[in-house]
Amino acid sequence: MRLKSLLTMSMLVMSIHSFAQQTINLPQPNKKANSTSVIEALNTRHSTREFASTPLSQQELSNLCWAACGISRDDNHRTAPTARNKQEIRLFVFTKDGVFEYMAKENKLIKKVSGDQRDLLTSNGGNANFKQDFVLQAPVSLLMVIDFDIFGSNDTKSMQMGCVDAGIVSENINLYCQSVGLVTVPRATHDTDGIRKLLGFTSQQLPIMNNPVGKPKKH
Ligand SMILES: Cc1cc2nc3c(=O)[nH]c(=O)nc-3n(C[C@H](O)[C@H](O)[C@H](O)COP(=O)(O)O)c2cc1C
Repeated sequence: MRLKSLLTMSMLVMSIHSFAQQTINLPQPNKKANSTSVIEALNTRHSTREFASTPLSQQELSNLCWAACGISRDDNHRTAPTARNKQEIRLFVFTKDGVFEYMAKENKLIKKVSGDQRDLLTSNGGNANFKQDFVLQAPVSLLMVIDFDIFGSNDTKSMQMGCVDAGIVSENINLYCQSVGLVTVPRATHDTDGIRKLLGFTSQQLPIMNNPVGKPKKH
């Protein structure tokens, strides 16, 4: 009996531990970080397709996700506007350790899948002969997914609004990176079906754009 309760206890501890490993509580985003002005970022923003392999710190990741579509006001509005404030763009973080979803309200990352899945972002999948392996250099790629279940419909207008909203998140990332010395490129290339399968999406969730992000490669 005592052995049984000891086993139950240790299983409980193990499951709490593995659950804890699935969630990364991010540090508060640093909204006073050194950055250029918006005008300077607009004037210098450009796409970069080379990255240093240096990982981003959790603080850098927190700042980046927050800039993309984090909560900026007490009423839970975001850094990125969305049509009718539907907040239907979900942000997924691909690293060599797995795929995480950014939960803006809780400021945390929830691991969805373990392992390096970044290959799904290099091409459109299938027998595509267009492959962008530079994505594998970037320590982080942010994937924007339109969730039509959250939007409440998937008609043509909703599709248009979802695309616009995702583009805004991507531009937040572009300008944020430029202003803090990170590099990125907005991309529409990724394996939509492969990502849907990996993350258990239906046709109501549409991976639409991604931004590989990293530090500039030194030459
Ligand atoms: C919607 C969209 C999709 C894009 N898709 C890709 C892509 O799949 N791969 C890529 O290398 N660049 C992609 N780009 C980047 C463009 O090629 C790049 O923004 C353009 O050449 C202008 O260069 P700039 O960003 O330096 O101004 C995309 C840009 C946008 C806005």
